[in-house]
Amino acid sequence: MNGFGFPTRRMRRLRMHATLREMLAEVRLDRMDLIAPLFVREGEGIRRPIAALPGQFQLSPDTAAETARRWSDLGLRAVLLFGIPKCKDAAGSGAWDPAGVVPQAVAQIKRAAPEMVVITDVCLCEYTNHGHCGPITTGADGARTVDNDAALLSLARVAVAHARSGADVVAPSDMMDGRVAAIRSALDDQGLIHTPIMSYAVKFASQLYAPFREAAEGSLRFGDRRSHQMDFRAPRQVRPEVMLDLQEGADIVMVKPAATYLDVIQTVRAACDAPLAAYHVSGEYGMLVAAVQLGFLEERAAVMEVTTAIKRAGADLIITYFAEKLAGWL
Ligand code: PBG
Ligand code: ZN
Repeated sequence: MNGFGFPTRRMRRLRMHATLREMLAEVRLDRMDLIAPLFVREGEGIRRPIAALPGQFQLSPDTAAETARRWSDLGLRAVLLFGIPKCKDAAGSGAWDPAGVVPQAVAQIKRAAPEMVVITDVCLCEYTNHGHCGPITTGADGARTVDNDAALLSLARVAVAHARSGADVVAPSDMMDGRVAAIRSALDDQGLIHTPIMSYAVKFASQLYAPFREAAEGSLRFGDRRSHQMDFRAPRQVRPEVMLDLQEGADIVMVKPAATYLDVIQTVRAACDAPLAAYHVSGEYGMLVAAVQLGFLEERAAVMEVTTAIKRAGADLIITYFAEKLAGWL
């Protein structure tokens, strides 16, 4: 009873034993939840800092393998590879080269850290000279758009090349219609029936990818990605997008961005029982890094809080540029 004669129901948070507080935590980040992005480019001995993503590097397959080894020793379990090819063309043909930079990196990482789960981003935008996620077609009105169906054939070849090189999971990020089905049937045709697909099912057209485009050298020469990425003002598109990808054979669905789209993560969590990943994207990383550099935020506390919020919203897996730091803190 309190001084007014009413029962007090409030938890006495201030005086709670710190261990009890820990025991009552409902959401706990774990190194097992994290996926670390890795940018690989052709060459040897490369460790080139990415200006737009302070603390992140473009690596060559050999230094990527060393990094994966070190991350594995830190307790990280999975990496997500992005390739930066030597040459680009209109079709993005470097993307399905079996001797390309991603297959090389996959093979070397698998040798250095066989226990590491290697996921590869499947898209064409890093490989096309115009920066779009598929070949371009010009309509009768002169408007240039991505040729969806031509892109599907290419994406399926990319996924097969990655899986053949040893990738454990392929992650199509292009948002073309029908890509999960196209990739699934191509993998199955090649006997790669055990390679799961993590689809970027709910991917919004976002300004928050800007630093990534510099990191992956995939800037657009014209236009934007609004013809195939989602409109952030239209959240009712979220469920149908997820359901479609699951019907087509996605094994893990992803929401992207993450911290600015917690409502979307929650919606997807409620809409299906599939494993759910969320991508804390480059711009979200950049906002935190900049605030820390300016002395506005304390890094460890802020990053732990934001990353925990992504998990609390319902994500099973979190793709984050903070993975290495988080692994050290957890
Ligand atoms: C390429 C791709 C992008 C990201 C992941 N894969 C960029 C885009 O769609 O424009 C963004 C990741 C990030 O910002 O960290 N399809
Ligand atoms: Zn793309």
